[in-house]
Amino acid sequence: MNGYTRTCGLIGNPVEHTLSPVIHNTLSMVLGENLAYVPFRVENGRLEDAVKGAFALNLLGLNVTVPYKSDVIPYLTDIDPLAENIGAVNTLVRTETGYKGYNTDMPGLYRAMCEDGVKVKGEKVLILGAGGVARAVAMLLLDKGAREAILLNRTVQKAQEVADEVNRIAGRKFAKAMSVDAYDKLPAGKQYLAIQATSVGMYPHCDAAVIEDPAFYEKVHTGYDLIFNPPKTRFMELVEAQGGKAYNGAKMLLYQGIIAFELWTGCKVESWLADKVYERMQE
Ligand code: ATR
Repeated sequence: MNGYTRTCGLIGNPVEHTLSPVIHNTLSMVLGENLAYVPFRVENGRLEDAVKGAFALNLLGLNVTVPYKSDVIPYLTDIDPLAENIGAVNTLVRTETGYKGYNTDMPGLYRAMCEDGVKVKGEKVLILGAGGVARAVAMLLLDKGAREAILLNRTVQKAQEVADEVNRIAGRKFAKAMSVDAYDKLPAGKQYLAIQATSVGMYPHCDAAVIEDPAFYEKVHTGYDLIFNPPKTRFMELVEAQGGKAYNGAKMLLYQGIIAFELWTGCKVESWLADKVYERMQE
C-alpha cells in the first residue's frame, strides 16, 4: 500500500466470516491493481454515516451485505435498473456526486450458471422460497428470458405477493405462486430447473431440505442451491438421487465479487483467473 492505493470495502453486520477480501485481494494482486479491500462492520443506525464517510474518504467502492442491501438504497445518488427492480444493492461504485448502486449477486448467479452450462432462456423454473433472495432470482429469470417462474413457499401468501410484484414489472403473467406442499400438482416429467433460495440446509443445519419427497425431485433436471456451506447440501443430494445435476452457491459468490471488481477497476477477469480465485476461496 502507498499513497496511490485505492480502497474498497464491505459494509454489513456481521462481516467477520466474509470471503470477499480473498476474492478482491487475490484479483488485485494478480492483475497488479493497487487496490485494498477491507471489511467494515457498521452498527445498526450508522448506515448513512458509513456511506457518507466512505465518500468523504474517497473510497472507490463498497460491497453491501446483510442487513443493509435494501436499506442502503436511499443513500445512493443513482441506481442500476436491475438493482432497482430487485430492490437490493450489493455493490456501490463511486461517481463524482456519490455512489451508484448495482446488484451483482444475480448477474453473479447468471454467470455461474453460464459457466456450469445451465440454460435459463426458455426454461421452466421452480424457485423454493419467497424472501428477498427468491424475489431477486425471479427478477433475474425474467431479465434472462426464462419461460416461467413458479415460487413454491411454505407461506403461499408471501409467494403470491412476490409473484404479483414481478408480474407488475414484467407487464404479463410470468411468475406464479404455489404452496410448497402442492408440488404434486406440477406436471410429470423432468422439465424443471429448480433454484433453492431459502436458508434451509445451511450450516449447521445441514441435513434439512424444504422438500424431502423424491417425487418432487423426479421433476427436476437441474438443481441450483444458493447455499455454499456445506458444499453439498441436502437439496443437492436429493436432486442427484433422482438423476438431476446439482450445483451450490459458491460460484455465485465468486462471480458477484468478480463483477463488482470489474465495475470498480474496468478490468475484465478471464476464466483462468476466476478459477484461481475459486481455488483460493476453498483453502
Ligand atoms: P431472504 O431475504 O434471505 O430471502 P427471508 O426473507 O427470511 O430471507 O426468506 C426466507 C425464506 O425461506 C422464506 O421463503 C421462508 O418461508 P416463509 O415465507 O414461509 O417463512 C423460507 N423458509 C425458512 N425456513 C423454512 C423452513 N423451515 N421450511 C420452509 N421454508 C422455510
